[in-house]
Amino acid sequence: MNRLDLANDIAQRILSALSKFYESDKRIKIRTAHISGVSYENIGDSGLIFLRDISEKGKFSVHTTINPMGADVYNNTFNLNEQFIKKQKEIAKAYLRMGAIESFTCTPYDYFLVPEKGNHVAWAESSAVVYGNSFLELYTNKESALSALASAILGEAIYSDMHIEENRRCSLSYKYEEKINELILGLLAYHVGKKAEKPFNIKLGRELSSLEKKSLAAALGSIGNVAVFKINDEGNVDRKVYEVLKKDLEKEYMELNTSEDGEIIVLGCPHWNHNEIFNFLKEMNGRSFKKDCIIACCKKAYENTIKIYDRKLLDKKRIYFFKGACPIFSPLLKELGVSKVITNSVKAAHYYKYRGIRVNLKELKDIIKTESE
Ligand code: F3S
Repeated sequence: MNRLDLANDIAQRILSALSKFYESDKRIKIRTAHISGVSYENIGDSGLIFLRDISEKGKFSVHTTINPMGADVYNNTFNLNEQFIKKQKEIAKAYLRMGAIESFTCTPYDYFLVPEKGNHVAWAESSAVVYGNSFLELYTNKESALSALASAILGEAIYSDMHIEENRRCSLSYKYEEKINELILGLLAYHVGKKAEKPFNIKLGRELSSLEKKSLAAALGSIGNVAVFKINDEGNVDRKVYEVLKKDLEKEYMELNTSEDGEIIVLGCPHWNHNEIFNFLKEMNGRSFKKDCIIACCKKAYENTIKIYDRKLLDKKRIYFFKGACPIFSPLLKELGVSKVITNSVKAAHYYKYRGIRVNLKELKDIIKTESE
């Protein structure tokens, strides 16, 4: 078997194994794929060796974006271990060799090809999956790094679960009638995600900003299995409506807020686009942070930002960018010697907890108010 056949054969075997899990042999053509499993922190040497081998001949047959890396390899602003950077670059090279777009982001819907609603895709990265299904009306299961890779090669996914219309119908509804912001919405999704096992509707009092949508999708993606929800969907009026109370969210907050302060600020989980960065800088209104603030974003968002804002000035304000990288699945904090962070992201708080980092969770407005001058 030549290497091209071998790559296709591996991809076929991955999808066949998944067929057994879903009890479905049917496949569906996909328009795009989004692959996780890019950070060397997550996949280690065995992942790197696998990618090095499969990328010798394996080629993606559809538009394929890839998740953030474990470090900003573009200029290693934070002086992370050179060995880590070297291995991370090798992983990136392997994906690019197979035809991935140089995206390195968990928000592939911001700058890259987004098929029209109703199209089927194979996305890994739970926050993007929930966002794509819920806000873009794409059809995707929560793929794993391997199944998304296989789908990217073959251009198809298993026809199951979220690809089937009837599995996406909301059978229950939640309402929350208190004031909302990006943090509260994250806590709300986290709370509901622990309880709901099927797609649901949430009744909210107003339209959401892009940051708020990302926060909701990311928090829901980090907990439970639900991969699609609706907001203010008038659909089935017979649905049972459960009310979520402020005290329910306070409980979630107590679980995730494990520190009263932090040594640095981490923003951009999920990645911010340049408009979200601009809004944040406007909100800063000329103030400077009293501690370092790291914003995770893709390279394009960074480039668009520094076309408008002077990078040296941002440095002076202690605002730095972690380009094409994820500050959570990264050796970043360990290497900086940081054990407590401030963030507005429920998803970040959820995973930092497992990584032994304490978190001070605050709404973005509060972070600006209390941590800058
Ligand atoms: Fe993105 Fe990393 Fe958060 S991949 S959603 S910045 S955990």
